[in-house]
Amino acid sequence: MSYVIGIDLGTSAVKVIAVDQEGQICAESSRSYPLYNPKFGYSEQDPEDWVNETIAALQDLMSQLPYSNVEGISFSGQMHGLVLLDAKKHPLRRAILWNDTRSTKQCRTIEERVGEKRLYEITKNPSLEGMTLSKLLWVKENEPDVYKEAEVFLLPKDYVRFKLTGDLHMDYSDAAGTLLLNIREKAWSKEVAEKTGINLSLCPPLVESSEQTGKVKEDLVRGLDGVKVYAGGADNACGAVGAGILKNGRTLCSIGTSGVILSYEESANLEFEGNVHYFNHSQPDAYYTMGVTLSAGQSLSWFREQFAEDVSFEKLLSSINEIPPGANGLLFTPYLAGERTPHADATIRGSFIGMDTFHSRSHFVKAILEGITFSLYESIVKFRESGKRIDEIVSIGGGAKNRDWLQMQADIFDATIIKYETEEGPALGASMLAAYGCGWFPTLESCSVRFLKEKERFTPNKERVGAYRRLFPIYQSVYTNTKELSEKLTSYRQ
Ligand code: XUL
Repeated sequence: MSYVIGIDLGTSAVKVIAVDQEGQICAESSRSYPLYNPKFGYSEQDPEDWVNETIAALQDLMSQLPYSNVEGISFSGQMHGLVLLDAKKHPLRRAILWNDTRSTKQCRTIEERVGEKRLYEITKNPSLEGMTLSKLLWVKENEPDVYKEAEVFLLPKDYVRFKLTGDLHMDYSDAAGTLLLNIREKAWSKEVAEKTGINLSLCPPLVESSEQTGKVKEDLVRGLDGVKVYAGGADNACGAVGAGILKNGRTLCSIGTSGVILSYEESANLEFEGNVHYFNHSQPDAYYTMGVTLSAGQSLSWFREQFAEDVSFEKLLSSINEIPPGANGLLFTPYLAGERTPHADATIRGSFIGMDTFHSRSHFVKAILEGITFSLYESIVKFRESGKRIDEIVSIGGGAKNRDWLQMQADIFDATIIKYETEEGPALGASMLAAYGCGWFPTLESCSVRFLKEKERFTPNKERVGAYRRLFPIYQSVYTNTKELSEKLTSYRQ
């Protein structure tokens, strides 16, 4: 039997899956690693943890498939994280992640030096703390000795791939999230680099997501010696591939640590004025636009870790359906790490509004799910305001595991929600890039036709749609009313 392997390097864990030629997931393994928050707003991981846990997960995966023939491996990776390597290709410091908000000052410097309009023309994105360029400038200003030693920078999955193969590359879909890529020309922007004082030699060679970028080194993982490795893509691009978002009119809701609403674009010429991200897709010469909720699944995991550690997610969510829309007057805003869309605001923090002695733990869980879903709905509103029709949305990730939450998505988004047989979007997307890369299919689309099987549809319930429509302006006003309070509280965050 022949397989391809998809590796999804997430923020809480790495997941690896082995997929056969029919798109069946035949084996899987997952390993977690720590997240470091040494200061308020800081979010870091050790690149060696990613490498060690990925190798361990692959060893476990191969032990489940002892006599198999793996034809290709590819990656999906958390976006934007800065991995700085020295001349010997060793990491110079811990990686600074996508949800790290320390670089507000550097974001303003980028805008001043390049000009907001020009930056948008080249990169099609605004200067945000999440993007890699502001992190590079932060290191240059605050850790000059580290910066001086830097020879090249990579994104998270690129470092793991480098350790598996010995070859350095970055694909366009991930490079688009650095703010250093001219996304139309698919080339590093000399202009942005020069104006912000970054040496272009720090940028690695660029490739397509489905391009081969080496072979697995010998003696790393039994059974994988010499297997072909394909570049892979940003987790959101891979999520889109793994959910069949490969032609116009297709929209995705992906809820992992972060949450995104993503829409396929044929060209880079639509105008969203920087309200949403505009990135290169993992499908050659295509794009996607995307709104991001920084703490989506993370809001729920945070609540569970702090207040219900011994309770499974399944049990935690088991009675949310018994509580009416609006959680009996309890509202939650998911700004635990600031927010991206529609409020690019690193200072705002979350709140529960309307707590009452009547409220139980289930009300809090219901309010958290509603808050996350409302935040994602704000991105849908932006897309609809731009003239996009969104009637159907494919839902993937942790947010697609629970049927009540899927129904809530249908009711809040007022759109039909489609669930596939597997919700492993990014890992499946990575395996599809390997399947396409190694020639199993002539196009990614033909691969998606074979691999993706629709399981269930959730249609909006009119009454609940109405209830959520009435509640939404109140949810929106929580941001306006807590913005100043959050700013005043910053001096207490240590
Ligand atoms: C997207 C973003 C997140 C990460 C999560 O811009 O920052 O969705 O990719 O891994």
